[in-house]
Amino acid sequence: MKNKYLIANWKMNLLSKDITDFSEYFKNFHSKINLGICCNFLYLEQVKKLFPKSWNIYAQNYSEFLDGAYTGETSCLMLKDKKISHALIGHSERRNLFLENNSKVNTKILLGLKYDFKLIFCIGETLEQRQNNETYQVLENQIKLGLLSVKNNEISNIIIAYEPVWAINTGISATDEEIFLAVDFIKKTIKNIYPETKEAIPVLYGGSVNDKNIDVLKKIAVVDGFLVGSSSLKKEAFLNLIKKYEK
Ligand code: 13P
Repeated sequence: MKNKYLIANWKMNLLSKDITDFSEYFKNFHSKINLGICCNFLYLEQVKKLFPKSWNIYAQNYSEFLDGAYTGETSCLMLKDKKISHALIGHSERRNLFLENNSKVNTKILLGLKYDFKLIFCIGETLEQRQNNETYQVLENQIKLGLLSVKNNEISNIIIAYEPVWAINTGISATDEEIFLAVDFIKKTIKNIYPETKEAIPVLYGGSVNDKNIDVLKKIAVVDGFLVGSSSLKKEAFLNLIKKYEK
């Protein structure tokens, strides 16, 4: 299971005491799955210190600028300075609420790769786009524009997360067939752009994954893991999810 992933995205949740409590629960916990947490900038160092070394700790974003007069922004250089070299880029909440378009996402990806980041690059269609039969076109566009100028030898530093916007935080996961078709399409699209790349780029699914649907979702062979929001906020629920995935 070493090539499987289960990554928590805590979004804008949990305070110091919650994080300490959460980490105690996982103190001596070892898994065959690659585990990770995407957490708020302020708590990255705490999380990194408290969780087992094998867990990858991801920033949820960083600026498209490196330094300068950008009040309120956090640069990937600052993250590097704090020994953080994993980040989530292009989450739909950033695209939709903070107006990050494909071009901005691409700038961030290129910047991260330049500074040796390992990235999770999120893509996914809205409900309207799915209903208009635009899903594959949207995914292809997000991949092509998001990865513009990313070289062959850099693509192995990227994991893709397919997160249909309509399945995020709604309690309604995409069906196993919808996920299979989208992830298969994503993998084929990547293969077309990077035919020489030997290692397959992992593709995760995210959107209302929980301990009830994981048994079905984990059977979708093309899916290399999951990016989990709500069900990663409670330590018991997250542990349950990991155990069910491992089984
Ligand atoms: P939910 O698991 O709450 O639907 O969130 C998914 C997500 O956005 C992970 O990045």
